[in-house]
Amino acid sequence: MSSSPDSDRGASSRVRTFVEGFDNALGGGVPKGNVVLISGLPGTMKSSLAYNILFQNSAHSNSRGLYVTLEQRRDSIVSQMYSMGFAREEPLKNIEIFDIARIKKEVGERTEAKFWIEYLKRVINLKRKVSDFNTFVLDSLDAMEFLERAEGKRSQLFRLFEWLREWGVTTFLITEAPSEPTIQGLMGGEKRSEADYLADGIIHLKMHQVNDVDVQRRIRCVKMRGTRHETSYFALVFENGVFSITRPMSM
Ligand SMILES: Nc1ncnc2c1ncn2[C@@H]1O[C@H](COP(=O)(O)OP(=O)(O)OP(=O)(O)O)[C@@H](O)[C@H]1O
Ligand SMILES: [Mg+2]
Repeated sequence: MSSSPDSDRGASSRVRTFVEGFDNALGGGVPKGNVVLISGLPGTMKSSLAYNILFQNSAHSNSRGLYVTLEQRRDSIVSQMYSMGFAREEPLKNIEIFDIARIKKEVGERTEAKFWIEYLKRVINLKRKVSDFNTFVLDSLDAMEFLERAEGKRSQLFRLFEWLREWGVTTFLITEAPSEPTIQGLMGGEKRSEADYLADGIIHLKMHQVNDVDVQRRIRCVKMRGTRHETSYFALVFENGVFSITRPMSM
């Protein structure tokens, strides 16, 4: 790992993850305006990492973040984030958490795909009128099940990604899709998800069984367009409200 501080490189053109050490592995952070997937199975800290990015950027640079959740109620997210130590008031003022989980529950099953894309865009456009956002999180892409059901899924997803790029914010889309091709999967003809191809970057989180009893968190940059990034897995640690990486001690 380089010894230079993460803030040294590419500060103006990149959004830092504020995972100590990982920003160096990303060449300074995520290129501004990129659409990036944060992928991983349940409990791998996808939401926490996304919120960390919004929170720390607000705390360090007055950037404004929008967090749209279809998964968890707003108060559940807020209390989870407070319990992680993200409780200082100033940066929180610059983060808007918008919960559409309830509306989804009420009308979701019977509603057409187009409604959801249009609804999401309308919500974002309304928020944009009030505030100029720099970072956007959608938690999660998978919760928009219509994308699975819809005819022409690829073009729907493609249009959503294009719309996000035109908006110009740096976007983090949370997804449960593993995004890590396994040898067995590839031999069995497993297809990568459409979102994997469309995204500018993929940050993958996983739990790794070290031995019979120990499991460690891991993080890896699978891809990041326009960036010479490291490709290896790092151990991901969260302590005293700060994420950091170390080289894994054992594989
Ligand atoms: N204060 C804390 N310190 C360290 N780890 C924590 C703390 N609070 C929660 N965690 C860990 O974070 C996990 C939940 O993280 P998070 O909700 O971000 O995961 P997720 O990948 O978004 O999960 P899901 O797929 O269920 O939404 C918990 O299972 C716990 O292991
Ligand atoms: Mg989550």
